[in-house]
Amino acid sequence: MAVTIQIKHWPIPLNEQERIIFQAVAHAAAKMGVKAYAIGGFVRDKLLGRPVKEIDFVCVGDSIALARAAAKCLPGKTSLVQVFKRFGTAHFVWQDYSIEFVTARRESYHPDSRNPDVEPASLEEDLLRRDFTINTLAISLQESSFDQLLDAFEGLEDLRQKRIRTPADPIITFRDDPLRMMRAIRFATQLHFHLAPELVEAISQEAPRIQIVSQERITDELNKILMAQKPSIGFEWLFKTGLLQLIFPQMVALAGVEMIDGKGHKDNFYHTLQVVDNVAARSDKLWLRWAALLHDIGKPATKRFDPQQGWTFHGHEVVGARMVPKIFAQLKLPTHQPMEYVKKLVLLHLRPISLTKENITDSAIRRLLFEAGDDLEDLMLLCEADITSRNPQKVKRYLQNFALVRKRLQEVEEKDRIRNWQPPITGEMIMERFKLPPCKLVGDIKNAIREAILDGKIGNNFEEAWEYMIQVARELQVPNVD
Ligand code: CTP
Repeated sequence: MAVTIQIKHWPIPLNEQERIIFQAVAHAAAKMGVKAYAIGGFVRDKLLGRPVKEIDFVCVGDSIALARAAAKCLPGKTSLVQVFKRFGTAHFVWQDYSIEFVTARRESYHPDSRNPDVEPASLEEDLLRRDFTINTLAISLQESSFDQLLDAFEGLEDLRQKRIRTPADPIITFRDDPLRMMRAIRFATQLHFHLAPELVEAISQEAPRIQIVSQERITDELNKILMAQKPSIGFEWLFKTGLLQLIFPQMVALAGVEMIDGKGHKDNFYHTLQVVDNVAARSDKLWLRWAALLHDIGKPATKRFDPQQGWTFHGHEVVGARMVPKIFAQLKLPTHQPMEYVKKLVLLHLRPISLTKENITDSAIRRLLFEAGDDLEDLMLLCEADITSRNPQKVKRYLQNFALVRKRLQEVEEKDRIRNWQPPITGEMIMERFKLPPCKLVGDIKNAIREAILDGKIGNNFEEAWEYMIQVARELQVPNVD
């Protein structure tokens, strides 16, 4: 599904709320005798027809005073005006709009820091220090030129040409603020734009400077790339420019094809990207997209060549699942719930395939229902996305097999209700019945009951489970059985 972006012609009718905001800021600026402009993402996204709820205003003068005055000019309530004196910015929320004010400034950078020294400057100097031409478009709020579009660096033409370009020399733009290398690739991915050739060259050259950027900011951009309609665009650029090698080397290890005796294997990097795109076409869940990105991450470590079988990656799902916590920690992604979810999907991503063979027992199906629990739908979606064969016959056959697995899963679930299931006998019941304190034995009995139900040895009900518990306890010579 391609993104269709139409470039609107200015003036674009602002909606009612935006008109009220513009008038309030214009009024406050006129009273203060300062010049103010709407700038950056708001103008860019309005021209592209994308929804936007954040407005940045640049002020040639005291932006903090302008923010306070503008807030007072708006009807109804605004949030408190938050002031960041050090950065010369102020921010408040009105209705569902987030409104930011920044003083027009020039910046000078030190080689080892992303935080520049800033000084007030003219609008032109402010525009020149910005990242991309498409972000330098501004709307005037002066009475004499109200609503006019200012385009100092042919940003409008770049929007038309779908091109990411920097207003200044890209080497300087990226050296000043290396996060912009990630932003360039992220915008190219989100908007389906291309990177001007000199940007690709500059990113490749300046890539090592990404190391002065905080991990949180890098990961924020990675998440935005992953949430785009076609995330592969971004990951390919990260790979080609050498950034990926620095920020996520485990993914780079997936790339390439090795040949022995004329036998090769698929390139797992490009396969992974295809799987991510396939998932993205069907789901907006960020963590499911992460699971797709990491599903084969254990392949490089498990790759073997066998003269009979060719290339194998035995156990890559287990090794991959074990790598997930380390990758989450390295990328400063949230641990706990999202990490456990991704780990589980990586670990289970081959299981539905193993259920496509003939004579699959109910117990194998029950086990997957139990282990996948609420995440079964996501797991099935990941498995279907994992089919990247170019042979339409094969794709058809695999999908038919998965349809059968889904049917079996549904049948067994309806019969046995295993998803989100808790065994009918709790640890407390076991302790009370045998007068046991909390100990390993209680866990052993509980596990034995759960396994017997999953294997179909006994029914999923209290009576059979109780009887089985007594039998197990007797075998384990637990006290107080009789
Ligand atoms: N900017 C920049 N360099 C950065 C970050 C931002 O020059 N590293 C400038 C750009 O002109 C940008 C503006 O500051 O348009 C506002 O930044 P931000 O809100 O982060 O970006 P948006 O362009 O609004 O887009 P998004 O919200 O998607 O990040």
